[in-house]
Amino acid sequence: MILIAGGSGFIGKHLAQLLIDNGYLVSILSRNKKENTNDISYYQWDVEKGVIDEKAVLEADSIINLAGENIAEKRWTLERKQAIVQSRVGAIELIYSVLQKHNKKLDSFISASGIGIYGVLQSNIILTEDSPLADDFLGDTCQKWESAADLISNLNIRTVKIRTGLVIGPNDGFLKKLIPIFRLKLGTPIGTGEQFMSWIHVHDLCEIYIAAIENQKINGAYNAVIKDGTTNYIFSKKLAKVYGYNMWLPNVPTFIIQILMGEMADIVLTGQRVSSDKIEKTGFVFKFTKLSYALRDCLKNKN
Ligand SMILES: NC(=O)c1ccc[n+]([C@@H]2O[C@H](COP(=O)([O-])OP(=O)(O)OC[C@H]3O[C@@H](n4cnc5c(N)ncnc54)[C@H](OP(=O)(O)O)[C@@H]3O)[C@@H](O)[C@H]2O)c1
Repeated sequence: MILIAGGSGFIGKHLAQLLIDNGYLVSILSRNKKENTNDISYYQWDVEKGVIDEKAVLEADSIINLAGENIAEKRWTLERKQAIVQSRVGAIELIYSVLQKHNKKLDSFISASGIGIYGVLQSNIILTEDSPLADDFLGDTCQKWESAADLISNLNIRTVKIRTGLVIGPNDGFLKKLIPIFRLKLGTPIGTGEQFMSWIHVHDLCEIYIAAIENQKINGAYNAVIKDGTTNYIFSKKLAKVYGYNMWLPNVPTFIIQILMGEMADIVLTGQRVSSDKIEKTGFVFKFTKLSYALRDCLKNKN
């Protein structure tokens, strides 16, 4: 049984389906009560109150942890920042407490993390898993998230941290926010447009999670991004092409994004070039390596 904590969201839905297609039994931990389906058993928890249906953890062979308040959903007030960090750290600590209490062993514990751990860089340096970690808000959040995951590795459980880039997929994620603008043929680059976007198709990301379950040699932190991402300008241009136009509006000015998004603007105004060498050296092969192909796949039902 593979338990996905936070498995009802964008990535979790794809991952649950792919696991089922691969013959796995799947369960999901959610804050909300949900009816079991033929394929998925649902369990409830409340991370803030420290309440969890322990059966979810006790029945699992491996746990994939995707839980956490959405990073880009709301403006980063102090309260929101605390919720982003605490929902992630608290979720893992709660799972840890059940594992420890029952001396329960798992084949693996695999947690989401983000390439935000390296901070936002304007340079062309290609970041690897050994690059220095940042002390800005996202860098700090990811480090606390990964340290919580390391608690579980202290229980002698193989622990994998998936440092995820910008995930593109059908009907959800950050593409969902861009589609209404590009559908009106108004989409255009943001800021200078030169910032790097290290993206990954949700299908490949879910395959990385499955590889992490199946390949005992996968252990520790791995970047999950496509080799040599792209710039925001090229990304916008290719997206415009899917919608049948050449970009014509000037770039969205930096100051407008800063006014609209506050501190969170850094996510779209700056970027990182991130290496995928480590995961590829495990034998993992990406399906979606070309941005145009990936975008067309995500938007095949666009109208
Ligand atoms: N999508 C990306 O581009 C991207 C990039 C880098 C990293 N990641 C990370 O990958 C993970 C999954 O991403 P996603 O895009 O699938 O996110 P998502 O759609 O926002 O799903 C996250 C899930 O976490 C659960 N959750 C939210 N707040 C919670 C809280 N306070 N306590 C416990 N559970 C809570 C929710 O499940 P319930 O409502 O059922 O409880 C939600 O479905 C996240 O941790 C995210 O930060 C995503």
